[in-house]
Amino acid sequence: MNSLLELQNVTKIYGGGLFSRSRTLALDNVSFAIPSESPQITAIAGESGSGKTTMARVLLGVVAPTEGKVLFKGQDVAGMTRKQRREFRREVQPVFQDPFEVYNPFYKVDHVLTTPIKKFRMAGTKREAQRIIEDALELVGLRPDETLGRFPHQLSGGQRQRVMVARALLLKPSVILADEPVSMVDASLRATILDSIRNLNRELGIAILYITHDLTTAYQISDNIMVLYRGSVVEAGSVERVIKHPQHPYTRLLVESIPQPDPDKRWGAETTVSNTIGIAPGATTCKFVDRCLAAMPMCAEAVPGFYRIDPDRGALCFLYADSPELTSTEIATVLQRDADSHEPVATGAE
Ligand SMILES: Nc1ncnc2c1ncn2[C@@H]1O[C@H](COP(=O)(O)OP(=O)(O)O)[C@@H](O)[C@H]1O
Ligand SMILES: [Mg+2]
Repeated sequence: MNSLLELQNVTKIYGGGLFSRSRTLALDNVSFAIPSESPQITAIAGESGSGKTTMARVLLGVVAPTEGKVLFKGQDVAGMTRKQRREFRREVQPVFQDPFEVYNPFYKVDHVLTTPIKKFRMAGTKREAQRIIEDALELVGLRPDETLGRFPHQLSGGQRQRVMVARALLLKPSVILADEPVSMVDASLRATILDSIRNLNRELGIAILYITHDLTTAYQISDNIMVLYRGSVVEAGSVERVIKHPQHPYTRLLVESIPQPDPDKRWGAETTVSNTIGIAPGATTCKFVDRCLAAMPMCAEAVPGFYRIDPDRGALCFLYADSPELTSTEIATVLQRDADSHEPVATGAE
């Protein structure tokens, strides 16, 4: 399998130092791969505290996994040469939740655009740099003459977030990792920003990871989705299948809690899951057993495997134990099935 960016059995535990009382299992044996071919938009969804940002930071190489590996084009990120690391830093670009924090209020917005061009030597001349910047701004729907030369506070929140997307684009990335990119933006602007992110995928072939607690926007722009619960991927697959016919009891709960009449209403914003553990990771039960409406005795006795329910979807749940269990390598690829190659749906428990 050719993957661009991949997590292999990644576990991340925060804390656990000499003097810390509690440790937090933020990611629990997560495997996931972004294929090199046919780049897609993948949503990483879950409640606050489920491990989404940790996953983004591990994928960016800014947080080292406690266990497991991050591979970029097959190369372990932990063992890269300077040159490889530089290439990795250029090709995998973040877009964060609150762009205001990235700006220095005393510099014009131009500064956040010229800095990466210099750092990565993307242009030979000033004129070339200017052209790259203008092209990137136009690609995200901003007019260069209305954007450049201004200070951050002179732009709207939506414009600032678009400048951040343009900034990521300057470096001609192959992956954009957008962590809650529209959660600080007015509802009225969300759709247009997400549209421009989708265009980057469709027109420039950039793979997008869209991290969100909001299933509604995840459904709107993504091809695939991974649902995180307390650091574990509980369901993954094509967004059509997962949102329209959720199979994991947790995903069902989430989908049922999307307020139907008002599609702009946000989901799950207040709920937080707790991952704090006092002991080493390695649960002996299903993590969701306490909240599960479909819990069976075995759920409190053993950890479920990840079962392939459909050709392009799997879930971490004993309800599907009759389906083939996937190895971590197979789980990593469950999102990579070609959307046109759907085999007939093998229905799980209904
Ligand atoms: N730097 C950190 N130190 C200790 N715990 C952290 C740190 N960052 C995140 N956590 C904890 O890890 C868990 C996952 O957090 P996070 O990845 O931010 O989730 P999400 O983005 O889904 O809200 C939470 O319990 C959070 O409190
Ligand atoms: Mg987060």
